[in-house]
Amino acid sequence: MKPKVVYKPISSPVEAEDHLIYMGRLQNNARRYYQCALVIATAVTVLFCLMAAQLLLFPLLCTSLTEKTENLVKQDNSCNDSCSIVLVESIPEGLEYAPNSTFNPSVFDSWMSLLSQAKSSVDIASFYWTLTNNDTHTQHPTANEGELILQEMLKLKQRGISLRVAVNPSGSPAKDADVNALRGSGAEVRVVNLPSLTNGVLHTKFWVVDGKHLYIGSANMDWRSLTQVKELGTTVYNCTCLAEDLGKIFEAYWVLGEANATIPSPWPDKFSTIYNKETPMEVSLNNTASLVYLSSSPPPLSAKGRTDDIDSILSIIDDAKKFVYISVMDYTPTEEFSKPRRYWPAIDNRLRKAVYERHVTVRLLISCWGNSNPNMFAFLNSLAALQSKKTHYRIEVKIFIVPVSPEQKHIPFARVNHNKYMVTDRVAYIGTSNWAGDYFIRTAGSAIVVNQTSAANATNTMQEQLKAVFLRDWNSNYTQVLHSLTSYKEKCIF
Ligand SMILES: *[C@@H]1O[C@H](CO)[C@@H](O)[C@H](O)[C@H]1NC(C)=O
Ligand SMILES: *[C@@H]1O[C@H](CO)[C@@H](O)[C@H](O)[C@H]1NC(C)=O
Ligand SMILES: *[C@@H]1O[C@H](CO)[C@@H](O)[C@H](O)[C@H]1NC(C)=O
Ligand SMILES: *[C@@H]1O[C@H](CO)[C@@H](O)[C@H](O)[C@H]1NC(C)=O
Ligand SMILES: *[C@@H]1O[C@H](CO)[C@@H](O)[C@H](O)[C@H]1NC(C)=O
Ligand SMILES: *[C@@H]1O[C@H](CO)[C@@H](O)[C@H](O)[C@H]1NC(C)=O
Ligand SMILES: *[C@@H]1O[C@H](CO)[C@@H](O)[C@H](O)[C@H]1NC(C)=O
Ligand SMILES: *[C@@H]1O[C@H](CO)[C@@H](O)[C@H](O)[C@H]1NC(C)=O
Ligand SMILES: *[C@@H]1O[C@H](CO)[C@@H](O)[C@H](O)[C@H]1NC(C)=O
Repeated sequence: MKPKVVYKPISSPVEAEDHLIYMGRLQNNARRYYQCALVIATAVTVLFCLMAAQLLLFPLLCTSLTEKTENLVKQDNSCNDSCSIVLVESIPEGLEYAPNSTFNPSVFDSWMSLLSQAKSSVDIASFYWTLTNNDTHTQHPTANEGELILQEMLKLKQRGISLRVAVNPSGSPAKDADVNALRGSGAEVRVVNLPSLTNGVLHTKFWVVDGKHLYIGSANMDWRSLTQVKELGTTVYNCTCLAEDLGKIFEAYWVLGEANATIPSPWPDKFSTIYNKETPMEVSLNNTASLVYLSSSPPPLSAKGRTDDIDSILSIIDDAKKFVYISVMDYTPTEEFSKPRRYWPAIDNRLRKAVYERHVTVRLLISCWGNSNPNMFAFLNSLAALQSKKTHYRIEVKIFIVPVSPEQKHIPFARVNHNKYMVTDRVAYIGTSNWAGDYFIRTAGSAIVVNQTSAANATNTMQEQLKAVFLRDWNSNYTQVLHSLTSYKEKCIF
């Protein structure tokens, strides 16, 4: 008996993701070529200007550059908030670690705590909403947590708290039950048509509460994200500076959710930020001096000062001295959903470079489930092939497989490691995107970067905690070395 790869009809999913992006891309090839020509023309002009400047204006330019740098240094990136940061996870029902392994509070508890602490506003950027058994046409007891979250949200208006939801188009009125219920309760919901604006989807998953607390991570507004899918995110409390900065990304989605919206270029100043990879926010997280910033994709949605998500990832890989540990559901050096096919080696190249030039240890923990793209494993094998006893290059790939009971088998689009983070010997990166070209070029996502390298001897940093999570999973009995996975179809496709 050989299981066959069958492309299931999209019923809601973690990964209607793919379908939506695929639909979106059909319309827009012409614009892409036009943009390409524009980029080349701009580059030529810039080069010409640079040459002219060097020949004619060098002394002048020199002084003005110095002034600019001084201004940057003077700019105040410090924040006086005493923020508290917590790593949060959903561990799927039935996935068990050794009794003494690292353990974090649940996404569910963290969301409930945010909702109970809310006093004035809750803003949620989301991909899709399926918080109830009704939404997924299931009768699973573990939908209970998602249903509780929805109930609490429906009560917000009565408590005098405003709720705003930005969501990607669902594609079908049958899938709008939750957002319609929220609208009915007094919430404002805006559908952000990223498919028509950028050819991508609104894939971001974050919350801003009272302009003061925030959550960001891999979990969708889906009951399965609380009990049946493995998720990782972070919740930050009492952190106005950071919550306001995330609020700017939310406001960008919000204006794009207006009728007939187009993407402003440039974005008005109120969307700009001073916090980015060059000048991160200096703030105390759990009493530890930290440098923090938020990155965003796709580039057309980044206002002035915002670091694009891909630049954040590449700079973190470049900055690693000892190791880069990556845990993402999907990893492929291609624009997964584009036609004609496009190779997209931005991340792949940097990983190979880190391994080859700096002898950094790279580990990738990737997921395998019924919806995995079989081509992904060929590219992963190519990365893993760099490692050999002779070369001393250290790069390893393991596959995480969430166990599935006969009963769980019937839950659509569940039982997968949906994490999207990276930890190096220096920083923690927690995002909302899979690692394939489309997510950084067309799809809306965001991430938080926490750098606590300047705090000497700090214990229990985010970096340490995220590393502990990675190693727990890497060494667990739910992983397999990629090359030992000879028949991933049998093992991962249920
Ligand atoms: C932060 O605190 C310092 C010293 O307590 C103070 O001088 C500064 O104005 C404060 N900054 C902000 C933005 O509140
Ligand atoms: C934790 O478990 C590991 C193996 O599962 C064991 O080697 C180690 O001694 C345990 N540590 C404690 C403190 O129990
Ligand atoms: C589920 O759907 C049924 C029929 O559509 C409806 O009667 C019921 O109230 C719904 N339950 C919830 C919890 O929304
Ligand atoms: C946030 O600040 C309030 C008031 O200072 C405090 O009571 C609360 O415990 C803080 N929350 C966290 C999670 O640290
Ligand atoms: C949006 O565009 C449609 C069709 O072009 C037009 O009828 C409608 O008035 C516009 N709405 C707004 C708010 O501009
Ligand atoms: C982390 O902060 C240090 C300064 O403490 C800086 O040199 C380094 O570039 C930062 N790393 C990243 C990835 O931003
Ligand atoms: C850091 O730890 C080392 C060794 O434990 C100690 O010698 C040093 O004084 C500590 N530095 C600070 C700033 O606490
Ligand atoms: C920060 O403090 C909170 C509350 O005490 C704790 O739950 C959390 O684990 C700490 N986070 C880190 C990164 O140490
Ligand atoms: C992993 O170990 C746990 C107990 O430590 C066990 O219950 C589970 O069946 C094991 N899973 C696999 C995939 O071997």
